[in-house]
Amino acid sequence: MKQNISIFDSLKDLSNYFWQSFEHIAKKAAGQDSFISVLLSGGSTPKQVFAHLPSHVKKSIHWNKIKFFWGDERCVPPDHDESNYKMAKEFLLKQIPVPVENTFRIRGENNPVEEAKRYSITVQKELTSISGVPRFDLIMLGIGEDGHIASIFPNQIELFHSNEPFVVTKHPSTGQNRISATGQILNNALHVHFLVTGTNKAGILPRILEERLQSHMLPASLVRPMQGELKFLLDNLSASQLKESTWKS
Ligand code: 6PG
Repeated sequence: MKQNISIFDSLKDLSNYFWQSFEHIAKKAAGQDSFISVLLSGGSTPKQVFAHLPSHVKKSIHWNKIKFFWGDERCVPPDHDESNYKMAKEFLLKQIPVPVENTFRIRGENNPVEEAKRYSITVQKELTSISGVPRFDLIMLGIGEDGHIASIFPNQIELFHSNEPFVVTKHPSTGQNRISATGQILNNALHVHFLVTGTNKAGILPRILEERLQSHMLPASLVRPMQGELKFLLDNLSASQLKESTWKS
């Protein structure tokens, strides 16, 4: 696994870097019959990064060659304000010409157990599998203040190790049902980009990046795409408690 930490002065710089990287990955599919598969995240940082899609990237990407999926969804209808699909639709999908048949949303309005199964099958059908596990070209993830990723929270670490690609989870304080990708999906990807900004993330990042062994119970610490590349895209605020040796190495 290749790991890389980049710290940016502004959200605009972080977004530009993300989209440059996205463009690079997407270009691999441009002249081929195959598609590039992208797993989107919910959360405030991805939302702002979607909103900062540079116009030159908008024009350069063959959007009909990209298939979009979601790493997690809240169990609400697609027009609900808490829907991750709604957020991506408003901040990303609306501004790009992606064919509707290339967007695969998690149906948060359905029975969660049945939907987790249906979505697992959809992902297995649409993606190439390596050793029986679907492989995404690019996965974007946020990190919660408690170290959660997608909708796998620290009190449900066993779900990270599930044999299913997608499972039903529950938000620990609100009790809201969620559907989330598990570790087998996240750790089989070619590229995983963590997008993390704000002072409220400053405390959790050293636990994830500097105490990997001791904090192995945090879902974010378990994301290690063995045959892929892991990138941490941070802003100055979220990175403020990291040792220089952590990001300079
Ligand atoms: C969600 C997410 C979740 C999110 C983190 C970070 O549906 O909420 O997918 O994992 O990415 O909680 O969110 P922020 O960027 O808002 O802090």
